[in-house]
Amino acid sequence: MIFSLPHSLPRGIIIAGNWKMNFGPKETETFLVALEKRSQTTLSTETREALKRGHLRACLLPPLISLEKAISLQKQISFPVQFAAQNAHWEREGAFTGEISGSMLQEIGVHSVLIGHSERRQFFGETNTTARLRTESLLQQGFQVILCLGENQVERETGKTEEVLTRQLLELIPDPRKGIASFLITRKLILAYEPIWAIGTGLTASPEQAEDAHLKIRNFLSQHVSQEASQLTPILYGGSVTPEKSRTLLSCSNVDGALIGGASLKVENFISFLNLGGELLKTKTHL
Ligand code: PGA
Repeated sequence: MIFSLPHSLPRGIIIAGNWKMNFGPKETETFLVALEKRSQTTLSTETREALKRGHLRACLLPPLISLEKAISLQKQISFPVQFAAQNAHWEREGAFTGEISGSMLQEIGVHSVLIGHSERRQFFGETNTTARLRTESLLQQGFQVILCLGENQVERETGKTEEVLTRQLLELIPDPRKGIASFLITRKLILAYEPIWAIGTGLTASPEQAEDAHLKIRNFLSQHVSQEASQLTPILYGGSVTPEKSRTLLSCSNVDGALIGGASLKVENFISFLNLGGELLKTKTHL
């Protein structure tokens, strides 16, 4: 399943749980069984309806080894939840030890991929160029891509946030008139602002910092791609989102959801993020 969003639908709210290197197949099953059980009593009616209408979307990103198990349990969950991969290679097959291709993911029913996460950049040599190659190839293969960008601490402290985001966007979306850019208005390409200094550190961007960065990204899209792409593209915030801090972040008008790491590993947290999304939807008046 992918988020298929016709133009008439608003950007809505996306709650995505990035499990990183946590939860093998057995723990994945335990989580999903508990999610279904708890959601029966704790998922609000407005949230359930928003999920069914597609205005609120739930996504989980298990490690590759657990994806097939997650997909096999998908039908037992009484509300729509999508499973996405945390990475994939741009080539369709070949001598790339340790990598996985889009067609392998499609074979097990996965149609969405996270690309360019800062941990891939920091520990595994991902660059804007390789993130772009992955994104281009996966979009062409029919995937939905959540593409990450964001500045590091030194860049923020030296006032370079806008410069860094612009450079990343120019390198990730080099030709605004074709290629990757054309997937923005169909919501096949979603962006995630993930300030590196906030990821896994307990330091969350303030709502003002998040809103400001999202606005900068939206301004870039309106200047370099199109007004339509700027208005239609969901932009998620990621970086130490907790149930306590999520309300003010998700209330920002240009924040269309959250990419949540550590805090998404608890079933009750994931449900409370979804309920918050269901509640805040009515305040999202854009489009
Ligand atoms: P965190 O991770 O919520 O644990 O900071 C966020 C992310 O990596 O997307």
